[in-house]
Amino acid sequence: MTAIETNSSGKVKMTARDVRVFYGDNEAIHGVDLDVIENEVIAFIGPSGCGKSTFLRCLNRMNDTIDICRVTGSIKMDGRDIYDPSLDVVQLRAQVGMVFQKPNPFPKSIYENIAYGPRLHGLASRKSELDDVVESSLRRAGLWNEVKDRLDQPGTGLSGGQQQRLCIARSIAVSPDVILMDEPCSALDPIATSIIEELIDELKQNFTIVIVTHNMQQAARVSDRTAFFHLGDLIEIGATNEVFTNPKNKRTEDYITGRYG
Ligand SMILES: Nc1ncnc2c1ncn2[C@@H]1O[C@H](COP(=O)(O)OP(=O)(O)OP(=O)(O)O)[C@@H](O)[C@H]1O
Ligand SMILES: [Mg+2]
Repeated sequence: MTAIETNSSGKVKMTARDVRVFYGDNEAIHGVDLDVIENEVIAFIGPSGCGKSTFLRCLNRMNDTIDICRVTGSIKMDGRDIYDPSLDVVQLRAQVGMVFQKPNPFPKSIYENIAYGPRLHGLASRKSELDDVVESSLRRAGLWNEVKDRLDQPGTGLSGGQQQRLCIARSIAVSPDVILMDEPCSALDPIATSIIEELIDELKQNFTIVIVTHNMQQAARVSDRTAFFHLGDLIEIGATNEVFTNPKNKRTEDYITGRYG
């Protein structure tokens, strides 16, 4: 089953068509069509195992790192096929950054966590340029004031919520277009969660954000559109308030009203 968003406003940033994902012989995603609109926050929801993370990972080819995983169909960003063999995957993953469920700072200083990407991609070479990128990235991630006096200390010494903002700052530092977030708050307490949610709201002015969440309230709070997945199919996609208040599909309704999960 497929669902195409026809009533989209704004510029299409990424286009997925008939995307199937196989782990060995097992087809985990069954031909999904989905557009991601520029500067939107789009939430992926659905029961555990329905393929949210699998589909999310297609968007920056993170599935390439899983040996038995194979992706078919077409995914384009700004009209360009991201599975084109001539495409530089390292560059793609800078353009389409990723924030994971568990904060995963590098075992390096706070400064180096941010400076690593810009240095690798040649975005800043002089120390003063790097300093600027580090500061502006940490500011945009709402972390600067908390860490400005301890930039040389390990990133792993921060609290969980701070580490997650550090990881967001790290992805911002290479000027991505799109940021993928796979349950970015599930390891955080409610206060750290609300800080990240506010941050997402600010970030969407400059970035396109795709977020997987199990938290219905979070999807309702942060996203412009919501996509509901079930057993490897995209069942329904639409404006978040529509999906939550007036779902078109019975399975969506059952899920959001907590009848199964
Ligand atoms: N590395 C893997 N190898 C084999 N099968 C996998 C792998 N990763 C995921 N799968 C399978 O693909 C399907 C979708 O899994 P996925 O992790 O994408 O679901 P999800 O919606 O993100 O679930 P959750 O909400 O629990 O994170 C599941 O059946 C899962 O067992
Ligand atoms: Mg998942």
